[in-house]
Amino acid sequence: MGKILVTGGAGYIGSHCVLALLENGYEVVIFDNLSTGHIETVEKLKKYGHVDFVKGDLQNLSDIKSLFNLYKTDAVIHFAAFSQVGESVKNPQKYYMNNVCGTLNLLSAMLEAGVKKIVFSSTAATYGEPEYIPIDEKHPQNPINPYGQTKLMIEKIMDDYDKAYGLKSVRLRYFNVAGADSQGRVGEWHEPETHLIPNILKSTFSGGQTFKMFGTDYDTKDGTCVRDYINVEDLAQAHLLALDYLNKGGETNYFNLGTNDGNTVKEVFSACEKVTGQNIPVDICPRREGDPASLVADNTKAKSVLGWKAQNSLEYSIEKAYVWEKTLQKELINA
Ligand code: UFG
Repeated sequence: MGKILVTGGAGYIGSHCVLALLENGYEVVIFDNLSTGHIETVEKLKKYGHVDFVKGDLQNLSDIKSLFNLYKTDAVIHFAAFSQVGESVKNPQKYYMNNVCGTLNLLSAMLEAGVKKIVFSSTAATYGEPEYIPIDEKHPQNPINPYGQTKLMIEKIMDDYDKAYGLKSVRLRYFNVAGADSQGRVGEWHEPETHLIPNILKSTFSGGQTFKMFGTDYDTKDGTCVRDYINVEDLAQAHLLALDYLNKGGETNYFNLGTNDGNTVKEVFSACEKVTGQNIPVDICPRREGDPASLVADNTKAKSVLGWKAQNSLEYSIEKAYVWEKTLQKELINA
């Protein structure tokens, strides 16, 4: 099937994608600086197929160039990035240097090595404050934070690199990714954790902080923000379909990955109480800066062009996230 370079393969979404690649007969080279990803994740992934690991930083052109000299790869799936919206507002330099300059280095090394296919993790944050819901790919892209700006810049760079150098890209614009591997092998492991579902689940463990609900006065059905939660294994499948699409000669393209449906923070919270069987204490807090009221994807294009389907429900994602969270708590205690 070929060898795929996965940058950021030691991270949350990257590691699920590596498993999906291995299960479909690909060999994988993971390139990761382990700044937010984990070596323990790489070690686990190695049990499930042919995985090479190169520790390196995309900001060092020589790191990524030497990888292409060592391994002959057919395509790249590019996850490596910083992804915290709030941090990007406080420290934009960190984001522009790592996400934009890092990607420019990656693309240079690809061109030098003659690798001309890339699947890129973009984000709903490139759309900014929604003008209409559900958001389709024709929605204007006006990001409201540096994180979203970096991802949009990269999308534009990829367009220019296609026109000038024939580098084909598929940009996948994720909405809110949730869940964990169905077999419990990998899952979400951010330090610090900022995301909704893991934060609710973490609060159920001894020593966990009380869950903070940010904002109950939005103009939504119950006053809390609406998000489109897409299962991480469904998301991983979309990357395989995007690779197939490029392998079959598909043109540069971009797709929303979401479910076409939204849930409020309160609904997610109730679903977590149901899955864990616990009454979870909650602190009602003011709004978190920069949170739009609603973000819901129109995923029609990914369905019709890639043949992709979001199959797993929010409850399923929470169940899998809970299993993983219990494993992680045990592993951290024993570490
Ligand atoms: N929330 C809480 N308490 C928490 C964490 C989150 O109430 O402890 C609320 C947030 O205020 C928001 C919702 O839960 O209303 C979802 O928040 P997340 O942090 O889980 O996700 P975001 O929608 O902020 O961000 C996600 C990705 C970003 C990406 C963005 C694109 O994490 O990388 O979607 O829409 F940019």
